[in-house]
Amino acid sequence: MVLNYLKIINSKNKNLPIHIGILCAMPEELGSSLNYLSNIEINDHGDLRIYSGECNLNINSSKSLYLSVALSGWGKVGSARAATRVISNVFKGKSVDVLFFFGVAGAIDSNLNQGDIVVASKLVQHDMDARPIFDKYVIPPLNKEFLLADLKWVDWSSSILNEANLSEFGSINTGLIATGDKFVSKENEVKKLEDDFKDLLGVEMEGASVAQVSIQENIPWQIIRVISDSANKSSQNDFESFLKIYKKYSSKIIKVFIENIFKSPLKIIL
Ligand code: ADE
Repeated sequence: MVLNYLKIINSKNKNLPIHIGILCAMPEELGSSLNYLSNIEINDHGDLRIYSGECNLNINSSKSLYLSVALSGWGKVGSARAATRVISNVFKGKSVDVLFFFGVAGAIDSNLNQGDIVVASKLVQHDMDARPIFDKYVIPPLNKEFLLADLKWVDWSSSILNEANLSEFGSINTGLIATGDKFVSKENEVKKLEDDFKDLLGVEMEGASVAQVSIQENIPWQIIRVISDSANKSSQNDFESFLKIYKKYSSKIIKVFIENIFKSPLKIIL
């Protein structure tokens, strides 16, 4: 009896659509990705607009795929707020299963160049300092310095990126990203980050707050960054000129994640 009941639940779950949440800070990071949505519904929460819709990409699956997309603006507060709203967004009765953040980052590792991709396997909030109550960088509600991405998701992300035709982009990397409410462009700022985080690849302003919300909300997540500048004195120019080009290609990376979702670690859960 119980077994039959479980079978019914399981078979019902198999038919549920998958619902992906997609966040970027800036319009250039989203590019033309809204074109992947059909039958769009809009939910406004003050100045935050969430676009939801059916995915119209040609994906070989009997399951439906829903997308909820929003722009968070820059910084940890705005991105945490947008992450919370997107995770809570329901489309056609289906809640969000996984949250992706796509955007640009400044390189700290000197091996990285403009256009290289970084999948965050680990993130830190480099402006968190609750000493003497907690150690430096420890995020109090989690009692952790580093936010670890699920390795199954990191492996999936890097393998789909490696298999995709992303000729406009550079190398594909996985590693540590540092997040803080600061655009990093000064030598002394970089030196401090390098001293404290030996394996640091890049710096940005939203990833670790989105990761924290996702961890606390118990939802799978991935932060994917493309290098726009080298966090140095030319970073303003590099960042601005890179975005003008990047906005034409950013939707290509987002498409890779959407197209491969049925091969992702989600298939084990759903
Ligand atoms: N995002 C892209 N470049 C950045 C930088 N140099 N500092 C912080 N966030 C960034």
